[in-house]
Amino acid sequence: MITLNTPAPVAHAGLLGLGVFRPERIVTNDEICQKIDSNDEWIQERSGIIERRHADAHETVVTMATAAALAAIADAGISPEQLDMVMIATVTHRYQTPSAAVEVAAAIGAVNAAAIDSSAACAGFCYGLGIADGMIRSGVAKYILLIGAEKLSEIVNFEDRGTAFLFADGAGAVIVGPTQAQGIGPTIWGADGTQLDAIIMEPDVFTAERTGNPSVLTMQGQQVFRWAVEQMGDACMQALTAAGVSVADLAAFVPHQANNRITDALVKQLNLPDHVAIARDIQYSGNTSAASVPLALARLRENGEVKSGDLVLLVGFGAGLVHAAQVALVP
Ligand SMILES: CC(C)(COP(=O)(O)OP(=O)(O)OC[C@H]1O[C@@H](n2cnc3c(N)ncnc32)[C@H](O)[C@@H]1OP(=O)(O)O)[C@@H](O)C(=O)NCCC(=O)NCCS
Repeated sequence: MITLNTPAPVAHAGLLGLGVFRPERIVTNDEICQKIDSNDEWIQERSGIIERRHADAHETVVTMATAAALAAIADAGISPEQLDMVMIATVTHRYQTPSAAVEVAAAIGAVNAAAIDSSAACAGFCYGLGIADGMIRSGVAKYILLIGAEKLSEIVNFEDRGTAFLFADGAGAVIVGPTQAQGIGPTIWGADGTQLDAIIMEPDVFTAERTGNPSVLTMQGQQVFRWAVEQMGDACMQALTAAGVSVADLAAFVPHQANNRITDALVKQLNLPDHVAIARDIQYSGNTSAASVPLALARLRENGEVKSGDLVLLVGFGAGLVHAAQVALVP
């Protein structure tokens, strides 16, 4: 029988660098309310959102991902040629093919990298982290650039008051690579395709005319809210247990930035001690789907609320419905 070679595994993987891109244009609740019957007070109270950022016409998933990628590469102190893989979690790249990842790889000079987009909506970044961790420890890749990048302003119907105020644009990137000690806990993930109507992006001729993106998003807000509050606390607990740590070891909790009230419910369920910082980037960034977890983590690091080596709990959840949770050490 023929025996095939396998790559030499390495013991440990972790985050080596982090970088983000936030579009310049700030969109207030008052501006959103020009097209829906709502108001600033309701939006802040029911979601936590004070403002969000929308990309301009020249800012695309690719340009935002590229900017975040370059920042992450600089933060990690590696060169683009060292990357073996560029993976972009996105649901708003305009083309089915080629992927956004091939364009970003070319733009940053990742000439030795494979490139792929993945679709796990708001769980995309945490899914990607689980995949990257496995690829590095198995020896398949040494350095992976993982990016969450979204231009949700292109697929939102700004006359739908259930979604118009929630979704926004941005990109966050990390470099994942070999480390001295394990820096990414086991990923707890899952999918429930029986709830595929809860959040869905479907072809829409009007959005195509308005923005050039062929899809529009619809959401059953209460259904998603209930599911997140009922199930994500358990996923978080499993991620802690699987990694052999407890809430006392955490420096911060970085849930997907979907709704501050979902975050509040999870903080309560997890019984997080006071010293644990809670990511509330949704206040200034809205819900940026796959970009929300790295954007929120970066804001905590920028504000000095976490530092390199601190343990954080990440959880992503969204359309599918899908979810993924893990702990990680801050780069
Ligand atoms: C979207 C969301 C903020 C809506 O908040 P909610 O508290 O569930 O609101 P409801 O849909 O129950 O509506 C409550 C009331 O507010 C009204 N309302 C809905 N949207 C409104 C708006 N933008 N402005 C003012 N009132 C609004 C409703 O008509 C309803 O009025 P009624 O009680 O007179 O019937 C919330 O459901 C949510 O965040 N869901 C999860 C979304 C999410 O996580 N999505 C992404 C996952 S990736």
